[in-house]
Amino acid sequence: MKSLLLPLFALTPLFASAEKVELRTPNNSFVLDLNKGAEPQFLYYGPALHAGDINHLQRFSDPNWSRPEVYPAYGAVHTQSEVCLAMRHADGNLSTHMLIEDWTIAPISDQAPNGASRKGNLLTVTLKDPVYPTTVHLYYQTYEDVDMMEYWTDITNGEKQTVTLTQFYNPLLPIHRDNVYCTHFHGSWAAEAQLVEDRLQNGMLVIKDKDGLRNATANRNEVMMSLDGPARENEGAVIGASLLYTGNYRITIDTDDSDYHYYFSGINPDNSEYHLRKGETFTTPRTALTYSTKGTNGVSQTFHRWARKYQLRHGNQERMILLNSWEGVYFDINQKGMDQMMQDIKSMGGELFVMDDGWFGDKYPRLTDNSSLGDWVVDTNKLPDGIEGLLRDARKDGVKFGIWIEPEMTCTTSELYEKHPDWVIKAPGREPVRGRGGTQLCLDLSNPKVQDFVFSVVDNLLTDYPEIAYIKWDANAPVMNHGSQYLTKDDQSHLYIALHEGLIKVCQRIRAKYPDVIIQDCASGGGRANYGLLPYFDEFWVSDNTDALQRIYMQWGTSYFYPAIAMASHISAVPNHAVFRTTSLKFRCDVAMSGRLGMEIQPKNMTDEEKALCRQAISDYKSVRPVIQFGDLYRLHSPYAGDNLASEMYVTENKDRAVFFWWKLETFKNQHFPRVKMAGLDPDRMYTIHELNRIDNKPLSFEGQSFSGAYLMNTGLDIPYSHDVDYSKLNDWSSRVLLLE
Ligand code: DGJ
Repeated sequence: MKSLLLPLFALTPLFASAEKVELRTPNNSFVLDLNKGAEPQFLYYGPALHAGDINHLQRFSDPNWSRPEVYPAYGAVHTQSEVCLAMRHADGNLSTHMLIEDWTIAPISDQAPNGASRKGNLLTVTLKDPVYPTTVHLYYQTYEDVDMMEYWTDITNGEKQTVTLTQFYNPLLPIHRDNVYCTHFHGSWAAEAQLVEDRLQNGMLVIKDKDGLRNATANRNEVMMSLDGPARENEGAVIGASLLYTGNYRITIDTDDSDYHYYFSGINPDNSEYHLRKGETFTTPRTALTYSTKGTNGVSQTFHRWARKYQLRHGNQERMILLNSWEGVYFDINQKGMDQMMQDIKSMGGELFVMDDGWFGDKYPRLTDNSSLGDWVVDTNKLPDGIEGLLRDARKDGVKFGIWIEPEMTCTTSELYEKHPDWVIKAPGREPVRGRGGTQLCLDLSNPKVQDFVFSVVDNLLTDYPEIAYIKWDANAPVMNHGSQYLTKDDQSHLYIALHEGLIKVCQRIRAKYPDVIIQDCASGGGRANYGLLPYFDEFWVSDNTDALQRIYMQWGTSYFYPAIAMASHISAVPNHAVFRTTSLKFRCDVAMSGRLGMEIQPKNMTDEEKALCRQAISDYKSVRPVIQFGDLYRLHSPYAGDNLASEMYVTENKDRAVFFWWKLETFKNQHFPRVKMAGLDPDRMYTIHELNRIDNKPLSFEGQSFSGAYLMNTGLDIPYSHDVDYSKLNDWSSRVLLLE
């Protein structure tokens, strides 16, 4: 497969117009019209063009008043429409006009943010304002082996004095108004990633975040746009886009009375005016873009492959099965209890134990959530032998050891705050508004000293205890007191941006020194499920809600952009701690197994029978771990379809193995379910079916039988609606996990 980026004359010399520039990924073409002295214009994004087709691409027709410019700047020409760039020049002039000075294309071979090497082509378009010495570069970078393109900008101030950027989106993407539906994700704490689909109409769809720190709790910065009617999973043209940024963002899809919708993505400009000093350059975060003719599922598969290879830390390494202590013991940490949990997870086949919140604090021990953040020293009342004692137990018990931290935070009740009250985010002249526990405050990562401190939290732990294999990095507060005690009076509006620059710098330092440690990205659950942070993190905690039923919905939404290997999904106790629902253990296992399996429970409270079932689930998961963690996802039946059923499957790249999940969402008498047709199999291959996590007294009628891929995809299996178990064990939950090989 070749990734091409060629001026048209190289393709079709006769009708050449050197200004039509095509970028290619294996299956897609993206074409811009680049004329020196004019604004860059959009011509095409879609399936790869045949040689010669590019000649037919027309500029947008004027009568329809469509706007082909990909980088409108406010003021000179573009005053009525939404713009990518708006700025105040040093003399107060609000108008800017960015015209092409030059463009270049070149093969590029660089390092992806997760450390992998990548190859592709880079188009750089240099824009200049004819009146002011403002330079903008538009960058479009392709991948040679995956249908992904990333685009971003940098803006340089050539004036003698400071200019102010008031809006600084990436280039826009026009999408023809056929019958476009936008799928996006919204939520809140314990209810993340709920799927919404809107038909794009006149007006503007705005998806934004202003949390300051946890930009994925409420709305996700990813969208899928189905171009030809409501989205279908495996067919239809769909564009998928994600802003690779962990700070405040704004995505807008603007539709005026023209033939196009206009997709904008970038940093949220609210309260974020950016002062660019003489000679300084501001670089915007990248937008990742793909186009699929195979529906939403096609977009998901591309994002998953790209993420595992380029955007997620260690995306090519199997994840360990772990027990996390949080829901099992909360703050009640002690040496004996941790040892017991390590032994228990080992006895069930697990590989890693993670000690969550509650292990630290000297002067102010962390007994509940109202103190001690920042005082990252062991509470020796709880753990007299310190971390060394825990590591010793982990060695004895044969599991790896991980630890929880929340390094960007402090509490007013902490030694750190007593020593460095100037390190917290807070408005001058005001008492800080406090978060969790009535004491929590965010540290100001715009301050290099704070960056050093946050780095040192990880550095000290890993230097002192190199055996620590896993860190759970949490963040449980929004920015509530807009104000930096570090930034100057004039630059207070830089806070949101500078915070995230600081965070990324810390992450880069950590990864430079500790490339191997596994780090979980957690922020009150899934508050930081974003591709801005994942190059430095191995996975994220999907939600603090571990209820298996609601997890099906949250994991379904999350799966649109994130692969199973990144989605921490744990078996927990019932009644569930978030929604108080009682689901069967089998159901909980079957849901947790569809992501990165773990446990979040007190094993001491489990019966032997329950432990045996989890042991079986863990052992079964190990046998299919590569299929789930590296396979292609096929969403088969949506929980949002409203008929009480959800189903999905994972298939290996060479289609020799697959794992099929089927979950019944609610039970009624005389229910009727559609027979789920499988997808992604080789039609000509025979697959033998084995049920995993089996609890039934009798095997399924098709256990051990072989079916062609064609049969499974065209007809599907008759899954019984309930389990064949002893009367005393009957309940209303039903689910199946099937291995096909
Ligand atoms: C919020 C996280 O999402 C939980 O998993 C847990 O780590 C708590 N914080 C601990 O305070």
